[in-house]
Amino acid sequence: MRTIAHISDLHFGRIDPPLLDGLVADLAAHKPDLVVVSGDLTQRARGGQFDAAVAFLKRLPGPQLVIPGNHDVPMFNVFARAFAPTGGYRRHVSQDLQPVYRDDELIVVGLNSARSFTHKSGWLSAEQVANARTTFAAAGPGTFKVLVTHHPFIPPPREPDADVIRRGESYLPVLEEVGVDLLLAGHLHLAYHDDLRSHYKASRRSILSVQAGTATSTRRRGEPNAYNWIRTSPHLCTVSVRAWASGEPGGKPAAFQESLVTRYECGPDGWRPVKQVPVDAAAAVVTTGATTAG
Ligand SMILES: [Fe+2]
Ligand SMILES: [Fe+2]
Repeated sequence: MRTIAHISDLHFGRIDPPLLDGLVADLAAHKPDLVVVSGDLTQRARGGQFDAAVAFLKRLPGPQLVIPGNHDVPMFNVFARAFAPTGGYRRHVSQDLQPVYRDDELIVVGLNSARSFTHKSGWLSAEQVANARTTFAAAGPGTFKVLVTHHPFIPPPREPDADVIRRGESYLPVLEEVGVDLLLAGHLHLAYHDDLRSHYKASRRSILSVQAGTATSTRRRGEPNAYNWIRTSPHLCTVSVRAWASGEPGGKPAAFQESLVTRYECGPDGWRPVKQVPVDAAAAVVTTGATTAG
């Protein structure tokens, strides 16, 4: 079993300050095997914003797998945007735009889906997909395979026309061939998850697609700040949304708390949610598109 803290859309430049210490404390208490950061570290790709994000990530446990998002590409500097869209990210955060984490149970591959030609949307190049294919193919049998992009493969249930990764269906043959089990993404600032087949009717493999809300920014979209606590094992995946709950005077202090736990089992028909527990229904509006059973 492995545990992944999946955080996303930090947006330094639009931070809600109390959340930073709250996230540090929560991750220090839970000690994940891996921290995944699925992009949008900054609001405007400015050097000071990258530096603040890096200083914050140093306060979180490791190992970490970090990729950029569309907000980590400059918006107003047209020259930088066209000729060095990830220059700031590579200078301040990491030169590695295809990070890989692997141990004897888990392999996680990150790919940069942010592009200079579009501010919001994103996609993957043929070269990126080919590289991911080679990396996943080298993993041992029984390894749980995870792909991380900033742009999600599936839309939220409440926004079926939302901005998902472009050309998504063209990546499916490779994801199916190498046996990807789980996709992690952010971008829409909404926490939701479902089987990939809910959106791509032609897909032949059941792959779980999990999106995280914004962990630390004020750019909330009707949901509290949150991150995902994910437990993986070969045929099981539990997604716990840990949402920020404001404190009460004289009562509970403000903290990230478990707000919805969904347990998926992978059987002959693919991933299926077998149990969903709203720990505190008032704390979060978090949805899965799937029907729950049991
Ligand atoms: Fe974002
Ligand atoms: Fe984004």
